[in-house]
Amino acid sequence: MKPFYITTPIYYVNARPHLGHAYSTVVADVLNRFHRMCGQETYFLTGTDEHGDKVVRAAREEGLSPLVYVDQITELFKTLWPELDIEYDYFIRTTAPAHARVVKEVLQKIYDAGDIYFSEYEGAYCFGCERFYTERELVDGRCPDHKTIPEVIKESNYFFRMSRYQDWLMEHIETHPDFIRPERYRNEVLAFLREPLADLCISRPKTRLQWGITLPFDNQFVTYVWFDALLNYISALGYPDGKPFKKFWPTVQHLIAKDILKPHGIYWPIMLKAAGIPLYRHLNVHGYWNVDEAKMSKSLGNVVDPLVLKKAYGSDAFRYFLMREMVFGLDSNFNEEAFVQRFNSDLANDLGNLFSRSLTMVHKYFKGIVPQGEAGTESDLDFGLRANAEKAIQDYQKAVEDLAFHKALMAIWEFINNINKYIDVTAPWELAKRESQHKQLQTVLYNVLEGLRVIAGLIYPIMPRAARVMQKHLGLPSADSLQTLEDLKVWGKTQPGTKLPKTITLFPRVEQVKLGPKAMEALSLKEVSTLAKPEISEKMFQKIDLRVATVLHAEPVPRSKKLLKLKVDVGEERTIVAGIADSYQPQELIGKHVVIVVNLKPAKLMGILSQGMVLTASDKAICRLVTVDGPSEPGTPLT
Ligand code: MSP
Repeated sequence: MKPFYITTPIYYVNARPHLGHAYSTVVADVLNRFHRMCGQETYFLTGTDEHGDKVVRAAREEGLSPLVYVDQITELFKTLWPELDIEYDYFIRTTAPAHARVVKEVLQKIYDAGDIYFSEYEGAYCFGCERFYTERELVDGRCPDHKTIPEVIKESNYFFRMSRYQDWLMEHIETHPDFIRPERYRNEVLAFLREPLADLCISRPKTRLQWGITLPFDNQFVTYVWFDALLNYISALGYPDGKPFKKFWPTVQHLIAKDILKPHGIYWPIMLKAAGIPLYRHLNVHGYWNVDEAKMSKSLGNVVDPLVLKKAYGSDAFRYFLMREMVFGLDSNFNEEAFVQRFNSDLANDLGNLFSRSLTMVHKYFKGIVPQGEAGTESDLDFGLRANAEKAIQDYQKAVEDLAFHKALMAIWEFINNINKYIDVTAPWELAKRESQHKQLQTVLYNVLEGLRVIAGLIYPIMPRAARVMQKHLGLPSADSLQTLEDLKVWGKTQPGTKLPKTITLFPRVEQVKLGPKAMEALSLKEVSTLAKPEISEKMFQKIDLRVATVLHAEPVPRSKKLLKLKVDVGEERTIVAGIADSYQPQELIGKHVVIVVNLKPAKLMGILSQGMVLTASDKAICRLVTVDGPSEPGTPLT
């Protein structure tokens, strides 16, 4: 079976992650999980694009050096993805030395082949922005940011002879209809290629930009950020000799939005061709998310923070909404009310109710033990349920392969409906009234459980959490093991006799919109940078009130393996709950002079109000208390 390799764009670190970035990355994760379910070996790449003047300017605005700044923002992407249950295989950063090596190698190769030349360029340059503007970008002949008239300057640079490959690329796209998909974007690229193609300026003189990869053949220049960024897709696999490169590159599919169609549809295939690297298999292009019918933008203050939504509604619901609402390739609108509506109708009502209603019956009529069905044979109690399941799986598979995620979900929901109808028609509550119909009752509920097993398997790529919860409650062998598409196609895999855990509510209803437009907004970069352990001023540090404290008493916290309850003297007596029971016996703590944060907001831990925090030096293996070197009065401040 062919391996599967999917990439997302590598995101600029000039802004924090938002809904748009989350969408592309969730789609990649859904595809990756789906192909794993198909039994394929998969590789999922995401990362950050860290060079270029955009990033330098953003760093400057925050008063940070690019080096410090890129680390902070990259950390935000890295911490967001697991929150959304995104399981990538590798996170590439273009500031990594291994990436720079590949960029230089490819540049040199293309240079040696004669496709890069040195030439003079004349254009409108804004000194405020430190960049050239094209006629089209200027507003009334002025820089859109600085409102100044740019100066016409001449600059020498290196150019990539793209024009040489124009006809070849056009022919490739024409003879490979699914090279760029959906079709509207293929047509857009073809239309572009019908106009003369200009060569690409691939360098920036160091006199105006240093934050980039130095050209291997001229150290006075850095590489243009797009030429650097696109190569991430091969550097991440260890091009040219890495095993992953050999295994996964031949099947690569890129995933992007329409905003970066030109670099991916034109520059990238030409770069690959010029460097003698096989082309990608598919370029999958999606549309844009607008918010409340407006373009997402900082100035409108409508930038949706995925983390805020996840915290309010859960990662599964967020992923579901994105996949259900957007038709891949077209623009879509995000609106919290629509989100809540879908949550209640599709997740809480349709799926959630079917799940609870079915399991409640198994608990009521069979004490929670999976009844014996007529697994092998299609009984007259089937009412076409098995055929419905087969159709759902087939439609779903075809839809995901066509990137029509909304249709894949519609296929699942149609099957949910089928099961609901099946229950209504067979009326298990009536069968339960008569002893003579016990066998029928068994069969009906067994079939329902089988139907739910199929649903749980199919929702897995989109809602991995709910899938696992369902699988656990359906008594499937191991909630963590992957149900492959083949497993789902075989009816009768649920084991009779299995004891099911107590039922739960899969998606409790949401009573009202929780956030409102303002609250969905992303935090400002300033606020964000405090999340990523930034440098702080001395003044800020002094806000933390650290004091010496003497431990007066210590005891274990009942029902907790980790916690000890301490009574300490910090000039006054305080109770502190500390997670140090793995490393200390209560009695060895008495009389120790430890260090306490005294102005930490009190918090309840296991029902005990902890009035501060004790400092320790700890990693996963050890935990040691921080103490003072010699006698010190309780309450002495640390400075
Ligand atoms: N760094 C480049 C990409 C280099 S890839 C070799 C870049 N970065 S970006 O941070 O601007 O990300 C652009 C991508 O983010 C889009 O292509 C899309 O995947 C995602 N989105 C950003 N805003 C979006 C929407 N409003 N809607 C949907 N996705 C969008 O371009």
